[in-house]
Amino acid sequence: MSKGIAILGSTGSIGRQTLEICKAYPERFMPVVLTAMGNIELLEQQIREFKPKMAVVGDKDKGRYLEEKVADLAVAVYAGNEYLPDAVTDPEVDTVVTAVSGAVGLLPTLAAVKAGKNIALANKEPLVAAGELVMDAVRASNCQLIPVDSEHSALFQCLQGNRHEDIEQLILTASGGPFRGRSREELERVTVQQALKHPNWSMGAKITIDSATLMNKGLEVIEAKHLFQVDLDRIKVVVHPQSIIHSMVRYKDGSILAQLGTPDMRLPIQYALTWPERWEGGPNTQLDLLTLQPLTFEAPDWETFPALGLAYQAGREGGTMPTVLNGANEEAVHAFLQGRITFPAITEIVGRVMEELENIKKPDLEAILAADREARRRAAHWVSKYVS
Ligand SMILES: NC(=O)c1ccc[n+]([C@@H]2O[C@H](COP(=O)([O-])OP(=O)(O)OC[C@H]3O[C@@H](n4cnc5c(N)ncnc54)[C@H](OP(=O)(O)O)[C@@H]3O)[C@@H](O)[C@H]2O)c1
Repeated sequence: MSKGIAILGSTGSIGRQTLEICKAYPERFMPVVLTAMGNIELLEQQIREFKPKMAVVGDKDKGRYLEEKVADLAVAVYAGNEYLPDAVTDPEVDTVVTAVSGAVGLLPTLAAVKAGKNIALANKEPLVAAGELVMDAVRASNCQLIPVDSEHSALFQCLQGNRHEDIEQLILTASGGPFRGRSREELERVTVQQALKHPNWSMGAKITIDSATLMNKGLEVIEAKHLFQVDLDRIKVVVHPQSIIHSMVRYKDGSILAQLGTPDMRLPIQYALTWPERWEGGPNTQLDLLTLQPLTFEAPDWETFPALGLAYQAGREGGTMPTVLNGANEEAVHAFLQGRITFPAITEIVGRVMEELENIKKPDLEAILAADREARRRAAHWVSKYVS
């Protein structure tokens, strides 16, 4: 039987790779909803190829323009992100692949969870910003939330068939990003183009910058805490520059289980869609052990890359602090991508906003949305101070 798929962010890196999988298994996956922010040229191509029932465009003007362009097709086009929750809860949708970038995915993800849709979760920011709310909703709805992030997919795979009480540590691997080994002084001079050159993965701009600051690993630590209900003290990060081991679980008897694979997101995306089954992978998914470089491990450089420590701090404090960390980071990364601030200023701004905002414990959705807005407002203020 064919599964109805909604892809939040179908024009992005994860979204496009999800559609490749849908194309490889046309009798098993049916794209029902496709969404984008503004890349309507690609969205139009996707609509013509996959014939979804609905499309949502975040940019309203572009959404209306797209509606005219695809008037010859049976697709319903909605202009504005406020339509995302209705789109993902359509009765024909079985699984929602959350592949937008940023906390903008929170409301549609919550709506999909509450409607009992299964979630293939790539979009980590909602889980960082509102992890308890999302996980409470998942428990109440009994839906499946399967991680797509390669590290969390690896942990999920290493946890299959084992008991939660036997976990000693979750060990997330990090490539170290393009600036591994650089000094703080050197980071002052790095350019946007250099920061966008990830050594092993090809991803969207925001996550690529987060990988360079190590904030991505910090967001992943918080994501892992919520997904697997493990304390932060038992979640460790180890730098593994080859990105072959995607993460590991250490059990209390001393065994470490690891998941290995080529650095290709189609593998974890497909597993999230087929779990508990495994289907044949694509051409780049077969790892040749005999031609591999030696696999190495090192400790993260906490001083040069303070974002990782800030994320642990926010995760330990809980409440709205992870929301603040995430909102300030999104704003600061955006400013860096526009060439307005230096690379180290991203993390400095996040630290300043965390220092000045009050932490609200046990926040409801309103408090989280308010903390997110305030963090962005304060970060924008600091960006204007840092602009040289
Ligand atoms: N890429 C990876 O390999 C990877 C790995 C692990 C986890 N993730 C996570 O997966 C998520 C997506 O990452 P990505 O690399 O695929 O991002 P991306 O390439 O930047 O794609 C983002 C997608 O979201 C849409 N979008 C962006 N801002 C939006 C907004 N304000 N409202 C509505 N739609 C918006 C974009 O539309 P337009 O194209 O129209 O702008 C695009 O379809 C992120 O949370 C990331 O952390 C990604």
